Amino acid sequence: MTRKEFLAQVGSGAALLLVPACIIGLESCKKNTTKTVTVDFTLDVSSGALATNGGYLVSNSVIVARTNSGTFIAVDAACTHEGTNIKYTAPSNSFICPNHGAKFDANGNVTQGPASKSLTSYQTSLSGTSLHVFS
Ligand code: FES
Repeated sequence: MTRKEFLAQVGSGAALLLVPACIIGLESCKKNTTKTVTVDFTLDVSSGALATNGGYLVSNSVIVARTNSGTFIAVDAACTHEGTNIKYTAPSNSFICPNHGAKFDANGNVTQGPASKSLTSYQTSLSGTSLHVFS
């Protein structure tokens, strides 16, 4: 084996060692693009913002609103555009982002950009004055 042949073989082997594991598809390099957050908390709606129709509050990074018809809705509080906390607007039963004006319906679906991704919505269950918000 000539010196040139030796260096060519060593070089290709070394190059293979330097290939980032992500390029060859190792599981450990795959980005976790799914956000798995468990939401499970309870709020007392006998007083405060949720005691009256149209009121809302943010708890555990979730915006919980009491609609004008008295039902409860809950979605992620952070706008999917750049993360600003959204606000609830009772007259239109929707959410609006004060930062760039994105709008979402009561289920968290985008109705106006610049956001392009829906808000995650959560289930609610009322028992007496105890509101359970959960995934
Ligand atoms: S951060 Fe909400 S629209 Fe930009």
